[in-house]
This record gives sequence, C-alpha cells and structure tokens, in this order.
Amino acid sequence: MTLVEAIDKRISCRAYTDVPLGQNALDELSALAGQLSEEGGFRIDIVGPSDGGAQLKLAARMFSGRVSTYAALIGPDDDPTRERIGYYGERLVLQATQMGLGTCWVAGTFDRDSVVVPMAAEEVLHDVIPIGTMPARQPFAQRTIRAGLRRRDKRPAAMYEGPTPLTEAPAWVQAGIDAVVKGPSAINEQPVVFVQEGSTLTATLPHLKRNLEYTDLGIAKLHFQIGAEAAGTPGSWEWGAPAAFIPA
Ligand SMILES: Cc1cc2nc3c(=O)[nH]c(=O)nc-3n(C[C@H](O)[C@H](O)[C@H](O)COP(=O)(O)O)c2cc1C
Repeated sequence: MTLVEAIDKRISCRAYTDVPLGQNALDELSALAGQLSEEGGFRIDIVGPSDGGAQLKLAARMFSGRVSTYAALIGPDDDPTRERIGYYGERLVLQATQMGLGTCWVAGTFDRDSVVVPMAAEEVLHDVIPIGTMPARQPFAQRTIRAGLRRRDKRPAAMYEGPTPLTEAPAWVQAGIDAVVKGPSAINEQPVVFVQEGSTLTATLPHLKRNLEYTDLGIAKLHFQIGAEAAGTPGSWEWGAPAAFIPA
C-alpha cells in the first residue's frame, strides 16, 4: 500500500477488537516511533500490552472495544512541538494503516490518569493514538460519530486562495489539497488554508481558536507533501504558519 493509498484508507477508528498486536508489528512501530522522535525532537512512546497499554481508558461514548497498544505523544507545551507532533505522528498513523491496523488521534476523549508513561517536569502528554486491530466493519454508533463529524467537511476550494480557482491550479496543488481534505483534524475543523501568491504556496492558519490547530497544521503539511509528490512535485515545508512549500 502506498502512502497515497494509506491516506485514502485511513479513518479515525473508534472500535477495536481484543486481538493484541503481534510482536513483529510492535517492533516495527517502536522502531519507527524511535526514528520519528529523533527527527521531530519530541517523544513518541509505543506502550504495548506488556507495558500497561491495555490500561488506556478511552471515553466509552466515543469508542468501543479495548486497545492494548497506543502511542503517547509527549513533549514541551508549545506550538512548534504541537506542529511537529502532527507531522511525525501522522507518519506513524499512515504506517499503521499500511500494516492494516486501526488508529485514532485522541487529544480529549480519554482518561489521562490511565496513561502509564513517566514524564519529566517540562513535558506534557499532548495526544494518544490507540493502535489496534479493527473489526471488519465499524459498529453503527462509531460510523454515526464519524459521519456526523465528516458532514462538516470543507470543500477543497475553501482551503485554497489563489489567482485562479483551485480547479485551475497546478495538478500537484490540487492533489496536495485533496490529500489534506482526507486527513484527520481535531473535531474535523480542517483549519489550514493554502495561499498561492506568485510562485509561492503558503500554508496558513487564519482562525486560531484552540491550540490543536498546530497539530492539524503538521498533519496537513504531511498529507499535502505526499499528495504533491505523487502528482510529480516532491518538496518540503518550512515549519510554522504562514510557511512556504519548497519544491525539491
Ligand atoms: C489533533 C487531533 C485530536 C483529536 N482528538 C480526538 C478526540 O479526542 N476524540 C475523538 O474521538 N477523535 C479525535 N480526533 C479525530 C477527529 O475527530 C477526526 O480526525 C475527524 O473527525 C475526521 O475524521 P476521520 O479522521 O475519521 O477522517 C482528533 C483528531 C486530531 C487530528
């Protein structure tokens, strides 16, 4: 499965079976988490069944079943860290998707006291990402939660400001934004707007309401980059907002 296919397939999975992850899957995720933590300058700890992963309490009104593994995303309490958590954490989510596993970004609807990871004084637990096996079909309640949130989806054109309508923008910009629309964002707010001025494409956050927009920004940048590269324009983002996309 390519990363573009993983973007198509990924959903916020809110129902898990009680089949724990195998050791190979745990090893693969832990190795990637180590690599991403180093690149991102924050901590992604994979908490597996033998480390107390099954103690994670997700809110029963949103989730069914029990996961025995999750990623804990930990670092300083600032916006640059939140953005990096989004960018690198979503890389882990897409890898888990490629492995056939279910994931969900969770910043609010869980019991923080059920997280068993030790933290230093300057660190906070930003989010958890349960990682587990999925039932063949999400139960009705969880499908309803997702449908309710996704009903507010922005149209791709609402995420773009440029000299032409989005439909006349370069194919790589359209592909990038298409990949962003499919991505996760807190309460599906989809806060990032891409602005084309001259030859520069910039990611902006026009309406800051809460601090999770920076995590959404990191996720959106990764998705955009994957979509643009698949459409023939690889590149990378500067950090922050507004920040430019630098074609390779
Ligand atoms: C930073 C972040 C935090 C989130 N926190 C929660 C949460 O606390 N509880 C929850 O059920 N979903 C949470 N989500 C999942 C979003 O609701 C979901 O991504 C959005 O509704 C889009 O749906 P989809 O991911 O299934 O495509 C979060 C997503 C992100 C990116």
